[in-house]
Amino acid sequence: MAGNWKMYKTPAETAAFFEAFRPLIAAAGHCEIVICPPFIDLPAAVASARGTSIRLGAQNLYWAKEGAFTGEVSGPMIRAAGATHAIVGHSERRQFFGETDETVLKRTVAALDAGLTPIVCVGELLEHREAGRTEAVLCEQCLKGIAGLDERQFAQIVIAYEPVWAIGTGRNASPDDAAQVHELIRFTAARRGVPGRLSILYGGSVNAGNVLSLLARPELDGVLVGGASLDADGWAELVGLGGAA
Ligand code: PGA
Repeated sequence: MAGNWKMYKTPAETAAFFEAFRPLIAAAGHCEIVICPPFIDLPAAVASARGTSIRLGAQNLYWAKEGAFTGEVSGPMIRAAGATHAIVGHSERRQFFGETDETVLKRTVAALDAGLTPIVCVGELLEHREAGRTEAVLCEQCLKGIAGLDERQFAQIVIAYEPVWAIGTGRNASPDDAAQVHELIRFTAARRGVPGRLSILYGGSVNAGNVLSLLARPELDGVLVGGASLDADGWAELVGLGGAA
């Protein structure tokens, strides 16, 4: 159960969230919880999550370890701050910040090198789905970008399937559609010789009303949640439902 806070919350709001959230999930040992706040909130989140099983992640990282790259943050810096995960290639970064399959690959390798688990986002646009190109686009994103990973690296990443038309829109993929794409990604990875079972999350307008039907599908290993992860009560309810699924 991964939460992507996007560009929401200050450090003080982060601390307040955890104060409210921690007691609500005291008994939730049954699923892995990852919260990805803005960089500036990571120290507050790490301090607040100490002593719990909640993991923290960044929402992006730069591929160089350090250097003259004004405004960027590297994998080793994120790791040193206490995070364990990093979202890579979110569609908002592809759409607004020039992210490409090539830069997604560089960031993914950098995350792995820093000891972070990359949550690599893939997903089709509405026009792709309407044109029946979902499979082709997904195969391309899986094969062109992260295809540069070797089998061992590939086996260490988490993939998040997020249809772009479902993000923040209130329209989610049906459990059948999501399951079909997850199968396709697993098949593509297996054909490449990736060992073991890939961990694949679904993301896009997940909420307390649809999470159970999505996670009822064995093809889905979890969810990546934006808007519904911002409120402590709501996120605790979702995590509880996810753990029960
Ligand atoms: P959403 O966002 O849950 O608000 O649709 C998901 C995401 O962007 O990861």
